[in-house]
Amino acid sequence: MSFFGVRSDTLGKLILVPAASTTDFRSVLEKGNILFFPDGGFSLPPAVLPALMGATQDARSIHKNIAYKPNVDRVSGLIDKSESETVRAGMREYSRSALEFLSRILPEYSRGWKVDYASFRSIEERGRDLPLTKRNDLLHVDAFPTRPVFGDMILRCFTNVNPEQPREWMTSDPFPQLAEREADHAGLDRYAALSGSGLHNLRRSASRALRGLGLPLVDRSPYDAFMLHLHDWMKANEAYQRDCPKYRFDLPPGSTWLVFTDVVPHAVLGGRLALEQTVIVSRKSLANPSLAPASILEKRAGRTLTV
Ligand SMILES: [Fe+2]
Repeated sequence: MSFFGVRSDTLGKLILVPAASTTDFRSVLEKGNILFFPDGGFSLPPAVLPALMGATQDARSIHKNIAYKPNVDRVSGLIDKSESETVRAGMREYSRSALEFLSRILPEYSRGWKVDYASFRSIEERGRDLPLTKRNDLLHVDAFPTRPVFGDMILRCFTNVNPEQPREWMTSDPFPQLAEREADHAGLDRYAALSGSGLHNLRRSASRALRGLGLPLVDRSPYDAFMLHLHDWMKANEAYQRDCPKYRFDLPPGSTWLVFTDVVPHAVLGGRLALEQTVIVSRKSLANPSLAPASILEKRAGRTLTV
């Protein structure tokens, strides 16, 4: 099997690094590289693609993709509910295979990660009509409104299952540079001021209590609140979108790539038919925890942001 790390931090050029020269994939990922597997890295079970190719995604719904929750074995985002069983079976197989692959190449992460959702991206991304904060074609770092991470990190494994068309990605400089240039403009100090404040503690106690009563309130840290804000701020910021360094990647049919999507600003410019599995990686399991976005922001703010 051939492995390559694709460096994204070099003046717009791609440098392919043979993975044979890489002893720890964690460092490659944590520095803001995309770990790229031209041959797919792992074999998709043969039943996956036939199960998914007919799926009709609900383009109008709040769901951007067809999602699969491995922990409860449920699928969402379909128009035709009669497809649920077939699609669920296909997603279950992809999720299981992707997680097995990730565990094999990143065993230190796998011991402490939380398995998050998988998704099937069936709609052509070029020209897709979405509200600004949901647009995929604008550079952003990921943050999940409903699943705060408290300083842990979002690792995503993508597979292009389109037999003919590449998936077109654009990235920009990773989080250390992003934070240096933009965190203060984006208002980090306002979110840092929440940390330990009476209002923040009160809000968190209330959301915990209401969650206990079954209401869907999210208990999030100042870090999570800032990252959600940064996601929207980046998409709405025309100067950032126009002036930041940009690196283009065509991810070919059959390839797989891994990236911390909260470290690497990314946008999808074109392509359809991709599968994806997310895991939330514990900050403690990083090769270099000081590279976590939470660590970078906490150092900058001079206080803890993740409680
Ligand atoms: Fe994203």
